[in-house]
Amino acid sequence: MSSRFQIQVPAKWILAGEHAVLRGATAVALPHPEMQLEIRFDPQGSCGGLKVSPQEGSQEILDLISAIRDRWESEDRVFPKLEGHLEVKSSIPIGAGLGSSAALCVAISRWLSEPLGISKKDLFEFAIQLEHRFHGRSSGLDIAVISAREPISFVANRGARPLGIRKIPRFTFHDTELRARTSECVIRVEKLREEDPALAMRLDEAMSAASRFALEGLVLYDSGSQTQGLEQVKRGMMQAQECFRSWQLVPGAAHRMERKLLAEGALAVKLTGAGGGGFLVALWVD
Ligand code: MEV
Repeated sequence: MSSRFQIQVPAKWILAGEHAVLRGATAVALPHPEMQLEIRFDPQGSCGGLKVSPQEGSQEILDLISAIRDRWESEDRVFPKLEGHLEVKSSIPIGAGLGSSAALCVAISRWLSEPLGISKKDLFEFAIQLEHRFHGRSSGLDIAVISAREPISFVANRGARPLGIRKIPRFTFHDTELRARTSECVIRVEKLREEDPALAMRLDEAMSAASRFALEGLVLYDSGSQTQGLEQVKRGMMQAQECFRSWQLVPGAAHRMERKLLAEGALAVKLTGAGGGGFLVALWVD
């Protein structure tokens, strides 16, 4: 395997639909405007073997590659010898709901697609399989939006639909400085489903409706109906945040930050991603 390779992929954020998307609801997700992950591979950059830098996090990447090799070889396929230097740079905080592991999976999948002969059609599934290693079964939403690099609506098993919008409202991102594992948040929602299935179903329906409002709002806003658009996005975000609250995924510090942003004039504030901490997204009149 001897070609140089470089790719940058964006972080992602979710406007509405988290968790319920795992059970068939629509979700709305966008690429993050600033944060991104970049990988560069230089076949000349090591004296034999694969060197991954920086040191921090390199073992996780080597383990990921080794898992791909094992799977590949278990199906009697030849896995190429990887020799060179793989450099990973990321401004996406880990465990913050912004898709750090999905971005890594998309970038690694693209890098390996040529040497492994993975077709464009199979690349999405390949990246999802990698992401499952990080947080159990995922809906594929994070992989889909990071791959699409544009706002999408998404339904598991049906895939992504690019929204084709050019103008979006003003959103800002606020770090609660709390970190949570997606798998643990998913388990918390699952637990509620066991304890109170009727409530859990109502919450999934409410989150699904939140996605519809948010989606409608984005489309209205893009088409020039800004006031109506903002109103619908606000409604969707507020409803989504109430679902997070009912799932007990809004920690005290996040709730206090949410109140502060609302007091400063934000139209709506919600967690993005699995919840339990991470980033809050605020919507503003621009
Ligand atoms: C994580 O970014 C979003 C969740 O809905 C999980 C998933 O869709 O795989 C919580």
